[in-house]
Formats: sequence, C-alpha cells, structure tokens
Amino acid sequence: MLTLKKTVPSFSVGNTSSCLAAGEVAADVVLEVENVFFGYDSTVLLRGVSLEVRRGEAVAVMGRSGAGKSTLLKICAGLLKPRSGAVKVLGREVGNRCFESVRPRIAYIPQTLGLVSGASALYNVLLGRASRRPLRFVAGLWSRRDVEEALEALRAVGLGDKPEMVVDKLSGGERQRVAIARALFQGASVIYADEPVSNLDINTATEVMKLLVEFRRRAAAVVAVLHDQDLAFEFFDRVYMLSGGILKEL
Ligand SMILES: Nc1ncnc2c1ncn2[C@@H]1O[C@H](COP(=O)(O)OP(=O)(O)OP(=O)(O)O)[C@@H](O)[C@H]1O
Ligand SMILES: [Mg+2]
Repeated sequence: MLTLKKTVPSFSVGNTSSCLAAGEVAADVVLEVENVFFGYDSTVLLRGVSLEVRRGEAVAVMGRSGAGKSTLLKICAGLLKPRSGAVKVLGREVGNRCFESVRPRIAYIPQTLGLVSGASALYNVLLGRASRRPLRFVAGLWSRRDVEEALEALRAVGLGDKPEMVVDKLSGGERQRVAIARALFQGASVIYADEPVSNLDINTATEVMKLLVEFRRRAAAVVAVLHDQDLAFEFFDRVYMLSGGILKEL
C-alpha cells in the first residue's frame, strides 16, 4: 500500500445497494436527453433540448458565448437537474436514487479542468477513482495497482516522465492531458469535456483532441463543447449548434 498525502473532502454516494452496478448496465445508448428545459432564474436558457449519444460516439456542441453550452454539459453529466424533461446516463435517470450507481462511470472535465492545485500530476490522476474508493482516498492510501494504472494513464497521454510534477508548473496542454489521464484512469464510460482545447496552439489542440476522441475505442462516448468548427468536424462524428436555447445538428 502506498501513501500519498493531501487533504480532500469526503464523498458520499448514498445507499444505492439495490441498484445494478454501473458495469451491469448494458445500455447501448450512453446519453439520452429528452425535451429538456432549464433556466437558472425565471429566464429560460434551454428550450426543449433533445440529444442521444450511443456507445463509441463522439459528439461536439458549439455555440456563442453565453448560449448555455456549459450548462447543457453539466445537465448531461447529472450535475444540474433539468427544470423539465429527462436525462438518462447509462440507462439511469438523473434525479433518481439509482443514478448514483453510474456516477463513477461519468467523467466530467470542466472548463477550468478541476485539477487540484499544488498536487502532482499522479495525485490528480488518482483522483479519478476518488468516488469509487472514498475511504482510501480520504486516508491517502492507494494500492500499488492503482498507482501503476495511474502511471499507465499518464504514459498514455505522453506524460510518463512527469508524474511527480506539480500541475501548476505544467503547460496548458499538459494540464489538459492530466485531466484526460484522470478520466482514462477513472474507467469512465462517458466523458464530458468543456472546451478541452481552448487557449492551446493548433498543434497541441490537435494532439489533445486525438487523445480525447480515442475514448471511443475504449467503448466510451465523448461529448465536448468546442469553439473551433474545423476541429469539431475533423474529429467528431456529429456536430451540434446550441442557439436560442435550441440544439440543432449541423
Ligand atoms: N450558476 C449560475 N447562476 C446563474 N446564471 C448562470 C450560472 N451559470 C451560468 N449562468 C448564466 O447562464 C448563461 C449560460 O452560461 P454557460 O456557462 O452555460 O454559457 P456557455 O455557452 O458555456 O458560454 P461560454 O462559451 O462563454 O463558456 C450565461 O448567461 C451565464 O451568465
Ligand atoms: Mg462554457
């Protein structure tokens, strides 16, 4: 058993023992968004959005700033509840108690990446299994196998030589790759990435994009918010535009 110390908040997934384990969900449709309406206040931001993403698909969502793309991604990840309509991930409806059983299979990379500042690349990758192993995580105890697999995920994104590097010292592209390695290590069945290549030069953006859509080959779906239409059409199976609260395929 290896020890990596870092104070972190505890996680609770509630009692989901009567729900099928995430691995037992044979859903071929990874994400089902059905006629979703949402607004933070009295204004309506999403007006009847529907979307279906199947296993092995990569889908991009574009739209102007403030259109609601990040909001939609959070709804798809079960981080926000729709005002009306339904969202199912891996066959489990958001808001239902059993949804918690699939949460470990959902990777969400926010616009800000969500890395722990002051901690190493390796530690940040290990965070990917925090919700699956909350006790070990809080105690800072990781099995040798976890550490080996986290190192393998870092190697897969080309950061095998920088596991001990504090993430704050990494470049923007390297930090994006740590976030992708974290999702890889998590063993997610669906990965949501919010503007994964913003602020990167075109070569680095292309590299990061390749890594991201590689998830499809691991029987996982990818949904990303993007600003670059050329990258969207080059790498994604379907491209959508969110405008005026309506989602349309381009
Ligand atoms: N937590 C919140 N509370 C209230 N309003 C919010 C909240 N989060 C976002 N908004 C508002 O909702 C609208 C859509 O925000 P969102 O972040 O989804 O846009 P976006 O399409 O991702 O924009 P960008 O391309 O700039 O990231 C914005 O007007 C924003 O100010
Ligand atoms: Mg956004």
